[in-house]
Amino acid sequence: MSIEGWIVTGGMDWRGRVGEVWAAEWRRTDRSLADLSRHLDAAIASVAPERGHALDIGCGAGATSLALRAARPGLRVTGVDLSAELMAVAQARAGVAADEGLRFQCGDALAVAAAEGPFDLLCSRHGVMFFPDPVEALASLRQAARGGARLVFSCFAERAANGFATLADAVIGITPPQDEGYVPGPFGFADRDQVGAWLTESGWQPDNVVRVRFDYVVGEGDDPVEDALSFLSQIGPAARALAQAAPDERRRMETALRETLLPYRTGDRIALPASAWIWRAVAHGDG
Ligand SMILES: C[S@@+](CC[C@H](N)C(=O)[O-])C[C@H]1O[C@@H](n2cnc3c(N)ncnc32)[C@H](O)[C@@H]1O
Repeated sequence: MSIEGWIVTGGMDWRGRVGEVWAAEWRRTDRSLADLSRHLDAAIASVAPERGHALDIGCGAGATSLALRAARPGLRVTGVDLSAELMAVAQARAGVAADEGLRFQCGDALAVAAAEGPFDLLCSRHGVMFFPDPVEALASLRQAARGGARLVFSCFAERAANGFATLADAVIGITPPQDEGYVPGPFGFADRDQVGAWLTESGWQPDNVVRVRFDYVVGEGDDPVEDALSFLSQIGPAARALAQAAPDERRRMETALRETLLPYRTGDRIALPASAWIWRAVAHGDG
């Protein structure tokens, strides 16, 4: 079984087992981010041009590309992701919508941006926090943007505001990493001031940033606790710890997770509190 641990999320992992798990779990990851997507898709649509070419960075199973294509039928959309498995899912979801106007391309976002630009819009749902060097990456995306093009992306805010991480930390006994500077991963873009400085340094003019608190749905259905437990065993900080635990310890963790999840149950649903930033920026200068 492949386990995604949110811990090592370098390029090779997304190309390999992490991408495979995300591809297998795309319905539940989409569900977990659906409440955020309402806000992100609206932010993207608020600046998306009617025509031109847009890039969805680290598009995964394609939710943001599909929403953008539906909102702007005259805008060409390219979704790019490192994972071939995720690209196959995105392609299948697009079905007949996948035409000249909507393409999914497997590869590194920076290489594809350089080859296929200039873009009139760049967007991403949680796909920009994994570059080894954020300033270099943002600068290279700026190079691939027309002057005045917009960049809109979401990223998790601080770990402490995201129940899927704090809950797992408490139950599993993980000590959250101390502030060690930039570490590519889910919380790599959590520091608002730092990200604002990176954007400016790399040729983007930030024009809006909002914090969005949203419901991160981890379980649903007849037995939402078991659904949540199975989801958290695949995706998120609990996954790796559970996978590595000896059988007795794993049972202890699972029992503790079930008990900790229960108070978050409302009817047939379990939603954890989550918090993200939605950034908007404009490409400085010509190009
Ligand atoms: C947290 S997932 C988000 C996926 C998708 N945007 C969504 O919201 O479901 C991050 C995605 O970024 C992709 N990714 C990470 N680094 C990348 C890179 N350098 N180029 C292209 N994709 C990348 C991963 O393969 C992964 O699918």
